[in-house]
Amino acid sequence: MNNTELIDKLNKEKSLRKAEWMRLIGTYSEFDFEYARTLAQKIAIEKFGKTIYFRGIIEFTNYCKNDCYYCGIRRSNRWLSRYRLTKEEIIECCTEGYHGGFRTFVLQGGEDMYFNDDRVVEIIKAIKKKFPDCAVTLSIGEREKESYLRFFQAGADRYLLRHETADNEHYKRLHPDEMLLDHRLNCLNNLKDIGYQTGCGFMVGSPFGTDQSLAEDMLYISKLKPQMVGIGPFIPHKDTPFCNMQSGSAEKTLFMLSLIRIMLPNVLLPATTALGTVRGDGRQQGVLCGCNVIMPNLSPMSVRKKYMLYDNKAGTADNAVTGVRKLREQMEEIGYTVTVGRGDFKENRDGK
Ligand code: 5AD
Repeated sequence: MNNTELIDKLNKEKSLRKAEWMRLIGTYSEFDFEYARTLAQKIAIEKFGKTIYFRGIIEFTNYCKNDCYYCGIRRSNRWLSRYRLTKEEIIECCTEGYHGGFRTFVLQGGEDMYFNDDRVVEIIKAIKKKFPDCAVTLSIGEREKESYLRFFQAGADRYLLRHETADNEHYKRLHPDEMLLDHRLNCLNNLKDIGYQTGCGFMVGSPFGTDQSLAEDMLYISKLKPQMVGIGPFIPHKDTPFCNMQSGSAEKTLFMLSLIRIMLPNVLLPATTALGTVRGDGRQQGVLCGCNVIMPNLSPMSVRKKYMLYDNKAGTADNAVTGVRKLREQMEEIGYTVTVGRGDFKENRDGK
C-alpha cells in the first residue's frame, strides 16, 4: 500500500497498525500531506461547518510541583516569578470573556497544591453560579480519582490532560523518575469514566521523540477515543534542560492534526498557541488541516509573561480584547467564522 492508500484506509477503518503508522509518519511526501489535509478539512466542514469554537484560557497559577524537562514553569526554574490569581481575579477574567462572547472557560495551571480540592471546587462553583450557560474545562494535571469526581460534581464539564507521549521510554526521557506514564494514563481513564469530555495530546518533535513514538501516540488515541486532542510542536525554553534542543516542525504538526481529524471525525481539535508560535499563520493552517477550536488567552496582562511554557509564546503582548480580535480576523481571512456556543462534543446518532 502506498501512503495515500494508507490515508484512505485510515479514513475507512479509523485505525492503522503500528508499522503502517510508522511508514506514513516517516515517509509522507508533499502530495500525501496535501491529500490528508484536503480530506481532513472536508471532514471538519461536514461535521462543524466553517465555524470555529473559541475557548477562553485562564492561566491561573504558574506554581508547579513537577519538573518536566521541557517546560518553562517546571519547579526548578528559579528565574521565574511565581503568581496565583485569586478567585475574584479569575471571575474577572471570565466576566471580560463572557462579554466578548466566550461560553467556555479553560482553567489551566501548573500542579499547584495551594489549589487543593476545596479551593478548586469553590472556583468551579463560583464560575458556574455566575455563568450557568458556560462550560468549565480544567487543565490542572494529575489528581486522585476522588478529586476529579468532586470537580465534576461541582460542575466541571471537561478536562485536558495531555499524555505527552505514549512511549514509555520516551516518557522517561522527558520527565524525572517520580513521574510515570502509567499514572498519567490511569488519570485519563478515570476522567473518561467519570464522564468528563476528556482531552489527551502530545508534542510533535519533542526531544528524543521518533516516528515510532508518534505511532504509539496515534495507537493510544485510537484506543482511548478522547473527545478532544491537543497537539503542538515542542518549542525550547531558555531556562530548561532542553534549552538547546530544536523546535518541532510546524509541517509535521499539521500532518499529524490532519491524521487525527481523519481518525476521529467528531473530535474537538484545537489549533494551538504553540503552532501559532512556530509559524505566524500556524493556527490558520491548523484550521485548514481539520482543526475546529482556538483557545485565546484571557489571562490578565500582568501575568502573561510569567506563564511561559516555551520561548516567544504567541499572544503574550496583546490584551484579551486585541488577541481575540486578531484571531477572529485570522479566521475570517480564510473564510471561517467564530462561534460563541459552548460547543460540546457530539457523537453521531449511530454512536460512531
Ligand atoms: N513546548 C511545547 N509545548 C509545551 N508544553 C509544555 N512545555 C512545552 C514546550 N516547551 C505543553 C505540554 C503541556 C501543555 C500545557 O503545554 O504538552 O501539557
